[in-house]
Amino acid sequence: MYEDLSGKVAIVTGGSKGIGKAIVKRFVNENSIVISLSRHIPEDRIDGAFYMKTDVSKLSDVKSAINEVIGRYKTVDILINNAGIEEYSNLSSTDENMWDNIMNINVKGIYNTSRECIPLMMNNHRGNIVNMSSVQAQIITKNAAAYVTSKHAVIGLTKSIALDYAPYIRCNAVLPATIDTPLVDKAAMLEVGNNTELINKKKLEWGKEHPLGRIGRVDEVANAVAFLASDESSFITGASLFVDGGLSIKAPISTPEE
Ligand code: NAI
Repeated sequence: MYEDLSGKVAIVTGGSKGIGKAIVKRFVNENSIVISLSRHIPEDRIDGAFYMKTDVSKLSDVKSAINEVIGRYKTVDILINNAGIEEYSNLSSTDENMWDNIMNINVKGIYNTSRECIPLMMNNHRGNIVNMSSVQAQIITKNAAAYVTSKHAVIGLTKSIALDYAPYIRCNAVLPATIDTPLVDKAAMLEVGNNTELINKKKLEWGKEHPLGRIGRVDEVANAVAFLASDESSFITGASLFVDGGLSIKAPISTPEE
């Protein structure tokens, strides 16, 4: 628990499922006032959290949601830019629509929400932004050209916000590797079809590629986000925090046994 998160107004984008849902839960447990902005209001909502239907890629949606948050709660202390999508395609097979969709959600979405919150945070002389990038901003898989580009862009945007609005706003990025969420289920499904046993087998296989021997859990990402949003990380800004079970340090080359 981070005592300073208690009573803070925290916006989490994409809080309806996966990593975002775990972040919402974590901040509710920290006694923050949590508002999830996502495209769909989920049926299985976290008790104590508030939900607003918002498409982060649409500035008008974001403006009206954040105005409503400010009207109700008077401020925004913490902004967690988690919403994101992934499509699997190399550059040649990425049509303009797919490219724009990924960039508009994964990058412009952060521009939209941050631009709405930063003036208030600067006025308060206090604010904290955490952006969800990916280990794919460091090491990449094939056939994810737009996604990989978008997650590299998130790192640049994180550093720019950190530098431009220091010392009042801290801004950091989290870079997860494979985390057990609907997004990863979808990726597994594309490889092995709609068979739960095969999907689980695929996820175990992917897990073995990570030095820690497994894929990650959503609460493990939420822990990192809560740390960065709390005063426990008070001298950290512009940083990239890997939550990747060691995947990013591993070269795919074997060496002789001793
Ligand atoms: P997910 O697909 O399970 O959930 C995505 C969330 O984003 C949902 O709540 C969805 O409603 C929301 N969302 C999507 N488009 C939106 C839009 N236009 N406006 C508002 N909300 C929108 O995905 P997951 O796995 O939880 O991923 C969350 C973030 O973590 C994403 O940014 C993803 O790129 C990143 N990430 C995920 C990894 C994984 O292995 N699951 C690994 C590395 C990064």
